[in-house]
Amino acid sequence: MDLTHRPRRLRQDRIRGLVSETSLEPSDLIAPVFVDATTDERIPIESMPGHERVPVEEAVTRVEEVLETGVGAVMLFGIPGSKDPGGSRAWADDGVIQEATRRITGETDAYVITDVCLCEYTDHGHCGPLEAGLETAHDHAARGAERDPADREATVTVDNDATLTALERIVTSHAAAGADMVAPSGMMDGMVGVIREALDREGYEHVPVMSYAAKYRSAFYGPFRDAADGAPAFGDRRHYQMDPANRREALREVSLDVEEGADVLMVKPALPYLDIVSDLRREFDHPIAAYNVSGEYAMLHAAAEKGWLDLESTALESLLSIKRAGADLILTYFAEDVADRL
Ligand code: PBG
Repeated sequence: MDLTHRPRRLRQDRIRGLVSETSLEPSDLIAPVFVDATTDERIPIESMPGHERVPVEEAVTRVEEVLETGVGAVMLFGIPGSKDPGGSRAWADDGVIQEATRRITGETDAYVITDVCLCEYTDHGHCGPLEAGLETAHDHAARGAERDPADREATVTVDNDATLTALERIVTSHAAAGADMVAPSGMMDGMVGVIREALDREGYEHVPVMSYAAKYRSAFYGPFRDAADGAPAFGDRRHYQMDPANRREALREVSLDVEEGADVLMVKPALPYLDIVSDLRREFDHPIAAYNVSGEYAMLHAAAEKGWLDLESTALESLLSIKRAGADLILTYFAEDVADRL
């Protein structure tokens, strides 16, 4: 047979590596770590097998485990000792993230990125204080009995500009504790700009901002909300996180973050949003991060547990695909397992 084109020529074992377009390295990965001020022992997270909430005392040990696999960067999430309507434990000097960051940066070489958001710290679970006139979680629950849920949801609005003031406090407290990078995830308008200004004003001009620039209102965050205890007590996040239906809007959102000084641009979730990763790769020269979220992790684990999918190969294929779409770095709960394997 006289075929001119035989793509299979380049699929032989000894040439496949040379022509491979994408590779996955431990240095591409960031491991999320949960630090919990309400416990003095490690608590397994049921919907995220292999992950735990660790007490502040164990934060260093936990990060050392990550470093041993070859992953050099961690993203810290905190569960505070107490919550209030304004989320004030988020910027406390002796807050859970501030304490953990101080210890980790003091005792290890890990590159510490802190999640900057209020949803784990407010008693209502929204990503900022609610607009004046809106009730507290308690009032809401009490009134819930006599109102239908759709009605209640309609009333929930986070006060954008009051949240910005809180974010300034949070980032400067994280930077003061030694955070190497801050990652605002609340999808508030103008957040990157005020954070950049606050860091510069306080002498932290060397601290980069990784913006959750295109963060969608996704059902794939479910397991995380159990893990970080940050589920909204009422309503949802559709008034601040992006509508999954929108692709062009992501470019507008991300352009604003670029103008405001974001150093790294993140898309979240990853697998259902690879078109967005690919769009950002084409439109911007910044490093692009993708967050392979809790639900993406949980579904592979659940299928593997049933014997329906092979965990290791589906995890590797997922991460490789996220890189192929254009991500430079990936936040993933698979970081340690995959790095170990690589
Ligand atoms: C908080 C935050 C969330 C996640 C990261 N930061 C949850 C949310 O927006 O509800 C989700 C991470 C995951 O699912 O792995 N703003």
